[in-house]
Amino acid sequence: MTTPAKSEKDRVVIFDTTLRDGEQCPGATMTHEEKLEVAALLDEMGVDIIEAGFPIASEGDFLAVNEIAKRSKNAVIAGLARAGQKDIDRCGEAIKPAKRGRIHTFISTSPVHMKWKLQMEPEKVLGMVVSSVTRARNYTDDVEWSAEDATRTEHDFLCRCVEAAIKAGAATINIPDTVGYTVPEEYFALIAMLHQRVPNADKARFSAHCHNDLGMAVANSLAGVRGGIRQIECTINGIGERAGNAALEEVVMAINVRNDVLPYWTNIDATMLTRASKLVAAVTSFPVQYNKAIVGRNAFAHESGIHQDGMLKHTQTYEIMTPESVGVKQTSLVMGKHSGRHAFSRKLEELGYKLAGNQLEDAFVRFKALADRKKHVYDEDIEALVDEEIATAQDRVKLVSLTVIAGTMGPQSATLTLDIDGHHQTVQSTGNGPVDATFNCIKQLIPNDSVLELYQVHAVTAGTDAQAEVSVRLAENGRAVTAKGADPDTLVASAKAYLGALNKLTARYHGAMATASRRIHSTDTI
Ligand code: KIV
Ligand code: ZN
Repeated sequence: MTTPAKSEKDRVVIFDTTLRDGEQCPGATMTHEEKLEVAALLDEMGVDIIEAGFPIASEGDFLAVNEIAKRSKNAVIAGLARAGQKDIDRCGEAIKPAKRGRIHTFISTSPVHMKWKLQMEPEKVLGMVVSSVTRARNYTDDVEWSAEDATRTEHDFLCRCVEAAIKAGAATINIPDTVGYTVPEEYFALIAMLHQRVPNADKARFSAHCHNDLGMAVANSLAGVRGGIRQIECTINGIGERAGNAALEEVVMAINVRNDVLPYWTNIDATMLTRASKLVAAVTSFPVQYNKAIVGRNAFAHESGIHQDGMLKHTQTYEIMTPESVGVKQTSLVMGKHSGRHAFSRKLEELGYKLAGNQLEDAFVRFKALADRKKHVYDEDIEALVDEEIATAQDRVKLVSLTVIAGTMGPQSATLTLDIDGHHQTVQSTGNGPVDATFNCIKQLIPNDSVLELYQVHAVTAGTDAQAEVSVRLAENGRAVTAKGADPDTLVASAKAYLGALNKLTARYHGAMATASRRIHSTDTI
């Protein structure tokens, strides 16, 4: 039997906004280098359009969009712009080096947004739709226009705006469910209505951008495809404003696995989904929920006796897709203290990491140290170690040593040495428990006003010698960052996680930019 040729009309274009909508959610800040790394992976896995940032929002966003535009191999690089001239000009500048660049401009069209947010009359908004798209077309032929809060917009007005945007030169029309309010049947009907009523609808590609406030972002996006949408805006792990966006991995696998009822296709190499999920989780330190569809650590785990029995008889009893199809490698007992550099770098490749030079060397030294202390080193141990290595490579402050006295005879005390910009400094402190004592030491050496919003510990693998992975979330001046630390000693892992978050708060972007580009902020007193 021959497989029928894929028709272009059934292709769903994947527009990834992990670096824009995803990055703008609290706690998911990425450094410049991290954004480049994520963009390179998205490009490699077949994402059609990468929305790399919001160039007017900050110098860091502009530089990230600009650098990603220079480096992209296949993907179109998009930048976001509000309807004003300055936004569009800045965005046009940022995407200039791209082989194919897109300006994505938007304005709110719902009564509640026009009245309270924009404080503009509908006719003024309509005028800005035309002027923004027209101005964007001076920079590129590839202009996308979005009706922010489209799902709460009056139909007649939405039709007029969409028609005007297409007439002004927008090739893509995005119909966002900005507040995650719609349901699949309603979204399907909205998209079908637009195709029926807008006279020039056939001149543009329609796009879905659904938020997940009611947990329906993926279902709504797919219902939109049935109504005529051929671009889905989504993010890795579903990160994004509030409850997030439609998850890329779920959209792609729903189309792949249920192609009988969703007869469409995408360009995504699904075997790279797990790697992308891990990379985004590592650089944002935004944990992936254990039971998350496709990429959660339990997504392919079969715990109950009945399920295990079924699986042993035939995998299809409880598995609708194979772990391999999304790039999951079976957990294996890996190396020990006798494993060499070659085996270690082979293992990293197998796990989807590409480390070279000093980073590979540092990761190897850390692996050896871990293997000396821990009898069995599993894939998960190596992943935790390398994720930490990637996340901390550019840190100004590093943990050198920590000694803690704990137990029933308080007060608990800690002695801590940090490497701060290459200088060692030691301090001692007590606290209400060993974690408090450790964090008090850090606060003495790095005075800061950040608030600890989350402190979470979990074991990377089973066993009492398992590594502890600690997640810490710090907030300061309305900005929140999360970081992880891993170590067989929970207190060392806690110190690493706390330092990781402080390093993130001080760094706006790393790598290509000099230390001078760091954000001025209380921790700069160090
Ligand atoms: O959710 C939304 O409406 C957006 C727009 C800027 C597309 O993110
Ligand atoms: Zn959004």
